[in-house]
Amino acid sequence: MDDIAFVRALHVVGVVLWIGGVSFVTTVLLPAVRRTKDPQERVSLFERIEGKFAWQARATTVLVGASGFYITEVWNLWGRFYSASFWWMHAMVLVWALFTVMLFIAEPLFLHRWFLRNAKEEPESTFRLIEKLHRILLVVSILTVFGAVAGSHGMSF
Ligand code: HEM
Repeated sequence: MDDIAFVRALHVVGVVLWIGGVSFVTTVLLPAVRRTKDPQERVSLFERIEGKFAWQARATTVLVGASGFYITEVWNLWGRFYSASFWWMHAMVLVWALFTVMLFIAEPLFLHRWFLRNAKEEPESTFRLIEKLHRILLVVSILTVFGAVAGSHGMSF
């Protein structure tokens, strides 16, 4: 069981770095970018900081997904996915899948180009939309962390 304790610790370290970063981008970086008057400066400030974070988010997404599936397989927890009371298991996979699609497929394929074009043409509405989507993702992620810790330590829903 020691290896599971180790993998589980890695899982949580990955979650802390990843969701902590999402929280920073949502509650600190994006409001600061919004207050920057020059639209061109807004784009370059956001790109410089969030671009670095995107690589960290990609690495932690892989770590969290791999460790999560490993624990599920070794403990054979697949049956939980048939029970609504384990909604937090579904929520973990949902959050992970959302970020995986965004970071590995949508962003490199079209989202980045869409952002650059729209941030130039309509900076106000583009940054407002990005901030709103980040807020939704952050709330869902925090509810998931809450459910996963409470659920895996005995709280029944
Ligand atoms: C592919 C995606 C994922 C899978 C398969 C997965 C699977 C698991 C499993 C099997 C556990 C242990 C449950 C138990 O001990 O009963 C766990 C714990 C946990 N997971 Fe995930 N997870 C995934 C993604 C995530 C994500 C995206 C988050 C955060 C938003 C997250 C947060 C947590 C937390 C906070 C715990 C509780 C750790 C503890 O208190 O010991 N997981 N996960």
